[in-house]
Amino acid sequence: MEEKKLVVLTHGGAGSDPAFADGTAIAGQVCMMSLQSGDPVIDATCHAVAALEDDGRFNAGIGSHKRNDGTVQMDASCMDSAGTFGAVAALEGFKNPVRVARIVSQSEYKILAGRGANQFAADQGCETFLPHQVAKTGADFSTTDTVGCVVRSGDQFACALSTGGIDKAVPGRVGDVPLIGCGLYAGADGAVATTGAGEVIAMKVTALRAYQLLERGMHPQAVVATVIAWFEETTAFGIIVVSKNGFAGGANRGMAWTASEMVANREGDEPRSRNLRGGVEGRGRSG
Ligand code: GLY
Repeated sequence: MEEKKLVVLTHGGAGSDPAFADGTAIAGQVCMMSLQSGDPVIDATCHAVAALEDDGRFNAGIGSHKRNDGTVQMDASCMDSAGTFGAVAALEGFKNPVRVARIVSQSEYKILAGRGANQFAADQGCETFLPHQVAKTGADFSTTDTVGCVVRSGDQFACALSTGGIDKAVPGRVGDVPLIGCGLYAGADGAVATTGAGEVIAMKVTALRAYQLLERGMHPQAVVATVIAWFEETTAFGIIVVSKNGFAGGANRGMAWTASEMVANREGDEPRSRNLRGGVEGRGRSG
């Protein structure tokens, strides 16, 4: 069987406690196992984000922030380098929004929002959860943001995101996550996933512009440093990037994130994982 480079980066969101990197590591392992079992790269990527949604310590899935009326509305998206894209916005009552986004990506639609997204998820038999199951973790939990994953599997790339949005935002507020080229982008030259202040990330069309730097041959480490510099220090921002030249990630505050790599189908090769911190010390790491 053909040897294939596998690289998986997972993060728990800008502002997440770097001590929670055990959670991002588990998500990375879930993804690696899925890739090794032959799943499509976009499915493996979504499995990682679903693991982060189920963790409870991150702002996604059961750990999602509440809106100012006490409701929980979540956004999620996924994309691969073959041009597959799907997203949901302001989804309520479903445990794994990223799995709903993946099903949307296989439908005739690209983005479903609100009541229609809820109906679609129900029709597809997606797993539900009740708002009282939302976990409360950490004193400064309200400042944490979107979780994400980027993956390389040989020549293919994929990325996925999930978020509970801004703590105490008005119901119906939607950020960068379901917007292609804003929170995420994947193409033949790599994959990008961002986290942080959704309105600012969207207005800068951040993920597409970061991807265009990869297209021009910039190393992921330089891309991470360049893109972080587009944001004021007071604006929460983080990013993970993978290309054929390597990988990198960083944030302008703490962020739990993990990088794992291995060569599939090479005898004796095991995943090598590193838990990283995201803040200044994690900025621009590459492999
Ligand atoms: N970055 C996620 C959001 O602002 O909703």
